[in-house]
Amino acid sequence: MKVLLLGASGRIGRRIANELLDRGHEVTGVSRSGTVEGIDDPDFEAVAGDATDADDVAELAEGYDAVASALGPSGDEDVEVLPEMAEAVVAGLREAGVDRLVWTGGAGGLNVGPDTLLVETDEFPDEIEPLARSAIDALEVLRDADDLRWTYVAPAAIIEPGERTGEFRTAEGELVADEDGESYITMEDFAIAFVDELENGEAVHSRLGVGY
Ligand SMILES: NC(=O)c1ccc[n+]([C@@H]2O[C@H](COP(=O)([O-])OP(=O)(O)OC[C@H]3O[C@@H](n4cnc5c(N)ncnc54)[C@H](OP(=O)(O)O)[C@@H]3O)[C@@H](O)[C@H]2O)c1
Repeated sequence: MKVLLLGASGRIGRRIANELLDRGHEVTGVSRSGTVEGIDDPDFEAVAGDATDADDVAELAEGYDAVASALGPSGDEDVEVLPEMAEAVVAGLREAGVDRLVWTGGAGGLNVGPDTLLVETDEFPDEIEPLARSAIDALEVLRDADDLRWTYVAPAAIIEPGERTGEFRTAEGELVADEDGESYITMEDFAIAFVDELENGEAVHSRLGVGY
């Protein structure tokens, strides 16, 4: 598959790029600078682009089989940029005629009960609530774009660099936690689940939680 990966220079984006490349996909990785450190593969090309600009996304996405996103607000950037990026990416895909979009979302937008999202629980940390709410605003943008085959793949509550074990669970719409209530995933295993979904499309128009 030819995959355009937005946010390829980020912590999660670099792991998704490596997972795609290991499986033989051709990857074009987008960041604002046009550089992606640490990936040296003949099937990888780093390019510059702005994910808040629909025309930029359209031009980059033309001719690709799918667009993947590991976009996030970098550094101290306003978290509100997330839905803005989702709007531009959706518009760009439509313009380019690409209909598959797999989006890295946030755990806060996953259900922990029939009518409760993680972000709505008392335990959810106040300091990350604005980012979580902004990720949910981006999800709403996807939900308004059912002409595209989108999937919102969201990690466990805690995601960190770690081991690639291949042993994890996924759940449509739900936060994945272990029997002690701990919700955790390594970035390497998250990347496996993300690329599985990109290849197989088992959770189109849905949220997919990933954890142990
Ligand atoms: N537990 C959770 O729910 C959880 C935890 C962590 C992360 N996440 C989510 O996962 C996503 C990725 O997280 P991360 O930690 O990997 O983020 P990160 O390391 O900050 O990477 C963000 C990426 O987005 C790119 N980017 C930002 N603005 C851009 C723009 N206007 N145009 C093009 N590229 C742009 C950055 O590229 P440049 O800056 O190089 O341009 C970088 O590649 C985020 O949406 C975050 O909310 C969820």
